[in-house]
Amino acid sequence: MRHKILVTGGAGYIGSHTTLALLEADYDVIVLDNLSNSSKASLERVGDIAGRKPLFIEGDLRDAALVNQIFKDHPIESVLHFAALKSVEESVREPLRYFENNLFSTMTLCQAMASANVFNLVFSSSAVVYGTPSIVPIAENHPVGQTTNPYGRSKFMIEQMLTDLAHSDPRWKIAILRYFNPVGAHASGRIGEDPNGIPNNLLPYICRVAVGTLTELKIFGNDYPTIDGTGVRDYIHVLDLANGHLSALDAIRKNSGTHIWNLGTGQGHSVLEVVKAFEAISDRPIPYKIAPRRAGDVAACFANVSKAERELGWKATYTLNEMLRDAWKWQSTNPLGYK
Ligand code: NAD
Ligand code: UFG
Repeated sequence: MRHKILVTGGAGYIGSHTTLALLEADYDVIVLDNLSNSSKASLERVGDIAGRKPLFIEGDLRDAALVNQIFKDHPIESVLHFAALKSVEESVREPLRYFENNLFSTMTLCQAMASANVFNLVFSSSAVVYGTPSIVPIAENHPVGQTTNPYGRSKFMIEQMLTDLAHSDPRWKIAILRYFNPVGAHASGRIGEDPNGIPNNLLPYICRVAVGTLTELKIFGNDYPTIDGTGVRDYIHVLDLANGHLSALDAIRKNSGTHIWNLGTGQGHSVLEVVKAFEAISDRPIPYKIAPRRAGDVAACFANVSKAERELGWKATYTLNEMLRDAWKWQSTNPLGYK
């Protein structure tokens, strides 16, 4: 029988790519998603690509009765927990909605897991927990918690909650994965990132300028102490990230406790480098203007990935050009996303 996995938030950007990777690796997948930031179409397309569908349950992770019932109905062995609200800007405006959604859904999930004797959990954390890094590349033992916004604090609080949980009961096997900047899409161009409204993040914004739904990019600051003054980030292909989850799942099944891994490439790229590389790949101009720095942004943020390489035997493989090529294939063949 196949290993059965519950994927929360599996209709979303990273969850849909990871669901595909799981199906391709012969897992059975159940997705629970309330579609608050995604579309069912992503999972239909995942099913087409894999030749096998995940079971989709539309519902909210904060609904304890529903979540308990899912564990009663299905012999789930492990959980990948992606479901969360993720906009930094929105979290500053609506902190309670962010804490309520992100914390309460994780608590409900963990309670239901414990009742069902399911203890393997992979959690989507973020480099946002490092706050303003005191040193780059950032290793997992860099201090955490000096986060600058409620979204980041919700991730930090969940990390602490999961660590306390694992201390309380040695049956828990928990991976905390700190993602750097996920970009790109499946090479088929059929699934990809489709944010609601005007994107906050660099790559989706550039993609929309390239297809003409937005007119110009604002580059937030060109006076940082970086190679060309613009912000430097560690962009990682979403397919590499998806594979990192499979490696983390294998690793925790052999080891109790909480384990933290950075998932990045270890390479930093500036905004201007990304813009120039994207123009070359798409053969479209990306008009931009320099705007003031964005509140809460840091100059440079990139990962030390040696712990993940050593302990997971995992390494990111895609280059920046490949990430941009795949992001562009998705956006150019789906100019309106899943709509
Ligand atoms: P996404 O918004 O595309 O996916 C999240 C999914 O969770 C959505 O489909 C949404 O509908 C669902 N969801 C939210 N609250 C829910 C609830 N209460 N019940 C059921 N479903 C719910 O986001 P993503 O980019 O795929 O991110 C996945 C995870 O990775 C999130 O936890 C996010 O915080 C984390 N992360 C993302 C990034 C990034 O840049 N994309 C970086 C670091 C960490
Ligand atoms: N940027 C622009 N213009 C834009 C958007 C972004 O110049 O329109 C710049 C930013 O200033 C930054 C870089 O592009 O220098 C990357 O910005 P993103 O918004 O794409 O990504 P961030 O690094 O700010 O944030 C991302 C996720 C967060 C997560 C964080 C750390 O969006 O959720 O990485 O993992 F917390």
